[in-house]
Amino acid sequence: MAHALGSEIVVGVIGAGTMGAGIAQVAAANGHRVVLADASAAAVAKAKDGHAKAMARDLEKGKRTQADADAVLARIQYLHGVGATELAAFAPCGLVIEAIVEDLGIKQALFRALEAVVAREAVLASNTSSLSIAAIAGGCQHGERVVGIHFFNPAPVMALVEVIPALATDRAVLEASRALVERWGKRPVVASDTPGFIVNRIARPFYGESLRVLEEGIADVATIDWAMRTLGGFKMGPFELMDLIGNDVNYAVTRSVFEAMYYDPRYRPSLTQRRLVESGWLGRKAKRGYYDYRDGIAAPTP
Ligand code: NAI
Repeated sequence: MAHALGSEIVVGVIGAGTMGAGIAQVAAANGHRVVLADASAAAVAKAKDGHAKAMARDLEKGKRTQADADAVLARIQYLHGVGATELAAFAPCGLVIEAIVEDLGIKQALFRALEAVVAREAVLASNTSSLSIAAIAGGCQHGERVVGIHFFNPAPVMALVEVIPALATDRAVLEASRALVERWGKRPVVASDTPGFIVNRIARPFYGESLRVLEEGIADVATIDWAMRTLGGFKMGPFELMDLIGNDVNYAVTRSVFEAMYYDPRYRPSLTQRRLVESGWLGRKAKRGYYDYRDGIAAPTP
């Protein structure tokens, strides 16, 4: 089975949140026609608005001409809903990248629905941060065309992309995915199918220990962030970063890695983070998290 992912393929993206919107922008900016769908109308509207703003910024900086910016935007088809009607629009896709909620059962159901509409040679990819690609592939009829393509936030900016084969993944699918991401100007690295892959595995103790420092009253959020930025050499402190990622996403990833690592205490989730999620303080996207963004500045939450 040929799994070539040339520049002519239509790229489908499901989930138009933080990651899906960014991935769709990357694909469209690289000349692909893109179909982008989300169950939430608000997410679709926000993604569309974000794309228009990103193109306006590029235009202002002289990175694109007006015609180029218009062409990028015109290549993206936005769909609200993931019912039979919307999924039918994914039929011409050579690659579909899933970037929905970090929940294995929901992702598996989506992959099964996708398999019913796409061509036999289409590649199905997950942007999961932590879930088993084998479990996603295992739920599919043709698991050999399933692969992990894990972008980082913000997808249009971050060069690193982890490409993860499941046991069943066809080598040609892995290679085509790696080559495609490289043509998109990214730096793909192949990682084995293990909880959190490379970056999210290493990042778990970083976030976890930061939360324990906070919980033990050693220092407050702003001080920990400041210390890590200033002396640790990190671009962002752990709490700023968790607010950027989304506390719901970060918490879900921690839980998933903890469980997959047979409850190794190094990866134990934090009750503090759980309470933030329960309160809807999801970070920047909710204008509240470890910091309060409602006044347009990041004020520490008391
Ligand atoms: P998000 O919460 O910003 O967006 C997820 C979107 O998926 C939402 O707009 C939601 O309406 C939609 N959605 C949920 N269930 C759906 C379904 N069944 N069908 C269609 N749409 C559905 O989340 P984010 O941050 O974009 O994460 C998405 C995926 O990417 C997750 O698997 C996450 O682990 C992964 N990821 C997240 C990163 C981050 O920094 N936020 C970085 C890399 C990967």
